[in-house]
Amino acid sequence: RVESKGLVNKDLLTIDGVSRDEILFLIQDAIRMKKRKQYGQELKGKTLGMIFEKSSTRTRVSFEAAMIQLGGHAMFLSSRDLQLGRGESIEDTAKVLSKYVDGVMIRTHEHEKIETFANHASIPVINGLTDTHHPTQALADLMTIYEYKKTFSGLKLAYVGDGNNMAHSLMEACVKVGIHISLACPEGYMPDEDITAQVQNQANVNGVHVFVTSDPKEAVQDADIIVTDVWASMGDENEAEERVEIFKPYQVNQELCKNAKSDYLFMHCLPAHRGEEVTADIIDGSHSVVFDEAENRLHIHKAILKGLL
Ligand code: CP
Ligand code: NVA
Repeated sequence: RVESKGLVNKDLLTIDGVSRDEILFLIQDAIRMKKRKQYGQELKGKTLGMIFEKSSTRTRVSFEAAMIQLGGHAMFLSSRDLQLGRGESIEDTAKVLSKYVDGVMIRTHEHEKIETFANHASIPVINGLTDTHHPTQALADLMTIYEYKKTFSGLKLAYVGDGNNMAHSLMEACVKVGIHISLACPEGYMPDEDITAQVQNQANVNGVHVFVTSDPKEAVQDADIIVTDVWASMGDENEAEERVEIFKPYQVNQELCKNAKSDYLFMHCLPAHRGEEVTADIIDGSHSVVFDEAENRLHIHKAILKGLL
């Protein structure tokens, strides 16, 4: 059990910005709310603004449902319809929205944009995905791992595919809670060097192994959890065709999964492309927990919103 009243930082922009105890508290609170029979009123009268510059199914619907189930309200704000889409500055938008709502969730491209927004907003800002981070997904992933494995320490997670936002947030999340992580990415698609170095430092302090390779078999060896993600993220659409060729050896299929532990979990943040990064028999098979993982977005978002708002 971990005792905590909220989150120390105003915003949730990266996993690096939350402590191990805060992560454990959020997961504990999310599991408690998942089990309870009735919705609560913890966010009665509170409003969350949600700015989307990219598509979303899970993040949008689960944040909106989370607010409503806790007695609050959420507003979907498409950047196309906001004056932001016509050139109003991020700084001015942040200052104005701070006068109306109690928190803002943003999905955007460059991570610097959300940092600028957060620096000029007096209210909490939640990262709903940037090009380099997807912290709320990584927290839902940790919750799902905990539900199935009942522990974190000593587990091994293997991430196979693009060294993208999911790879970064999962690296940061794993080393915080004591999960060893190995990543297999093609040359040229490795995770960001600065983020990797920072994660490596934290891993050394926490006694956790971080291993980056271009060999998927090596990464998956004896893994407790196998994770993959799309080969072309939102924003990479024009590279999709060439990426299919480059990433082919990184497909998560039966052959690759044979190298993992016999009770491995398969995870994917979704949306997925069956036949590309993962075969249908794996994502729809008995080791896959992808729909629990998607469900847990709702529960962990409730805990995050309570912690910040
Ligand atoms: N996993 C995830 O963030 O899904 P959406 O893009 O549908 O929000
Ligand atoms: N890496 C993917 C995750 C989607 C939830 C993307 O950024 O498009």
